[in-house]
Amino acid sequence: MNQGDKMSPVLRVCHIAAEAISSAHGYRKNIPEAPERILTNTINEILFPVEIKAARSHKTIVAYRQTLRGTQFSQFFSRGGAFCLSTKHHGRLGERKTDVPICQDQYYHHSCGQPRHSDGSRRLQLQPLQNQNQPPHFQESRKPKTGILMLNMGGPEKLDDVHDFLCRLFLDRDLMTLPVQSKLGPFIAKRRTAKIQEQYSRIGGGSPIKKWTTMQGEGMVKLLDEMCPETAPHKFYIGFRYVHPLTESAIETMEKDGVERAVAFTQYPQYSCSTTGSSLNAIYRYYSSRGERPKMRWSVIDRWPTHPLLIECFSQHILNELEKFPAGKRDDVVILFSAHSLPMSVVNRGDPYPQEVGATVQRVMESLQHCNPYRLVWQSKVGPMPWLGPQTDEVIKGLCQRGKRNLLLVPIAFTSDHIETLHELDIEYSQILGEECGVENIRRAESLNGNPLFFKALADLVRSHLKSDEPCSRQLTLRCPLCVNPTCGQAKAFFKSQKL
Ligand code: FES
Repeated sequence: MNQGDKMSPVLRVCHIAAEAISSAHGYRKNIPEAPERILTNTINEILFPVEIKAARSHKTIVAYRQTLRGTQFSQFFSRGGAFCLSTKHHGRLGERKTDVPICQDQYYHHSCGQPRHSDGSRRLQLQPLQNQNQPPHFQESRKPKTGILMLNMGGPEKLDDVHDFLCRLFLDRDLMTLPVQSKLGPFIAKRRTAKIQEQYSRIGGGSPIKKWTTMQGEGMVKLLDEMCPETAPHKFYIGFRYVHPLTESAIETMEKDGVERAVAFTQYPQYSCSTTGSSLNAIYRYYSSRGERPKMRWSVIDRWPTHPLLIECFSQHILNELEKFPAGKRDDVVILFSAHSLPMSVVNRGDPYPQEVGATVQRVMESLQHCNPYRLVWQSKVGPMPWLGPQTDEVIKGLCQRGKRNLLLVPIAFTSDHIETLHELDIEYSQILGEECGVENIRRAESLNGNPLFFKALADLVRSHLKSDEPCSRQLTLRCPLCVNPTCGQAKAFFKSQKL
């Protein structure tokens, strides 16, 4: 009996899919990452829900790994394999403390500056891989005392949501001001819908941001209930700016739930008036447009660019990816920290974002003991007006022309995967541009997504914020020196005046 005869129907589907996709895409010679990401999306979206999420047993996972051995899926399984483990996996190689059998490749190396192996490569501390598919922790039905509103722009979950997402985005006057915006915004949205839908269809048909935010929220409140019984029960709410669940409906739900203490928690580590500022203005407008005062006591976590656990997460993910470069090339790798750019008109009115992104980069490189050369670069420029640079794509070209052909891209201003990582960095830059430029190796550090250490970072931020009894940071109270948006001032006054 061959292996195929023993397979369950689902395993057989996996096997056939793996072979078909492997041969359709093939590894690009110098870009092993690219097809893997396509596979990751495929397996994540199509195959996981079928059986892995349901079974979630080590035996099943071992069977999958066996089945897919020798295909490109096997690499994915070695990297993402920790999904099958419970969360009690701490320790180093040789002194593991686990409650289920594990394989060595379910660990990755961490921490620069450790003793080196005989081949000269770094000898690094081992950490557990991201547990990206752990079972959801369902929020309990007890009345929440503390509600945590996780603010983000959101992304369309389905192709059908793209138009409405774009429409809300182009109508947001806190993000951009256009002439006759109420007409021009929807017009631009309509014109761009097909192109953006095509991009989303290439990354699996939609944005994963709600999935990741839900997982992060669940991980965070679970920890918070243990860490801070005095403010429990905690419940998280998602408040997206441009897709459902929208910020306004989340506030409505929080008020209905009878939340006593509400924390507006931006999911952007670095503050910009275009992102976090826009979400805070939306909260202020919710109440002012209704002429109501909040029943909840509000406060804000408005920025956290240098939180130690955030820095540790980024450092871990960078080291993890550096280890995948050929040993002889590893020290030559240029780390490119890539953040969403801003129009210079926003930068020049005094937006704090560029400085705060720089602060994150600085701390990460310090924690890595400046193991490699690096640059902070800016992506996603649109339109003819000047934007903050240098642009990520131009930097990739320029470095290749100057003989620097081993590059590591690090998304530093978003914590979850989204179109700018999965399409712009992975497909446009790593696959297409990288090939055009003759790059030798180009990789992208994983987003923080389902890393349990990141859940801990979120919980720690909320815990210390609640303890501080401060309604917001000092920085939030200062408007941009050249701000012309009156809502910014009103929103800041609203939060500053909250009695906790
Ligand atoms: S644009 Fe920055 S405070 Fe208004």
